[in-house]
Amino acid sequence: MLHLKAPTDATWLAQVDANLEEVLVDHAHCEKKAAGTALNLIFHYVENRELCREMTEIVGEELEHFHLVLDLLEKRGIRFRRLKPSQYGAKLHALVRKTEPERAVDRLLVAGLIEARSCERFQALAAHVADTELADFYRSLFESEARHHTTYTRLAKHFAPEEVVEARLEELYDAEAAIMAEREPLARMHS
Ligand SMILES: [Fe+2]
Ligand SMILES: [Fe+2]
Repeated sequence: MLHLKAPTDATWLAQVDANLEEVLVDHAHCEKKAAGTALNLIFHYVENRELCREMTEIVGEELEHFHLVLDLLEKRGIRFRRLKPSQYGAKLHALVRKTEPERAVDRLLVAGLIEARSCERFQALAAHVADTELADFYRSLFESEARHHTTYTRLAKHFAPEEVVEARLEELYDAEAAIMAEREPLARMHS
């Protein structure tokens, strides 16, 4: 299901170990951003009923995830605060083409790629962290992010033929791997 070309490595896991609190705060921001992405897609493609229905579901689930992370922060006495984001999302969004229907295809595929990477990171974290509460938490999020990835990729096919979407997805997978390889100094969910 996930065809990410740059698997999460030990360098990132070590970065997380050294900055766990910051990564948890960033995770809360990511869930909030995921809800915002889905809501924006409703505004832009309001005439596509299936898209609106699916995005409504995703907005609800991502906000639920946001609150789950906020609860976890509160339980651990970590203050939720603004944080400088990683450049990952901005770099991916810069690849979105400007004219329709290519724009819709790219927005959906990029959103799906971010879900795929989040999913892969939750899996890596669940296997890595010694803290069992945290490992269980990451495991509980894995399935819905995987489903979101599938939904976004399927919806992209409303805007272009299947083979065109698949070819574009392949290009974006390569671009995503190149962005990951640039690494970032800040410890973030997508650094
Ligand atoms: Fe989520
Ligand atoms: Fe998601």
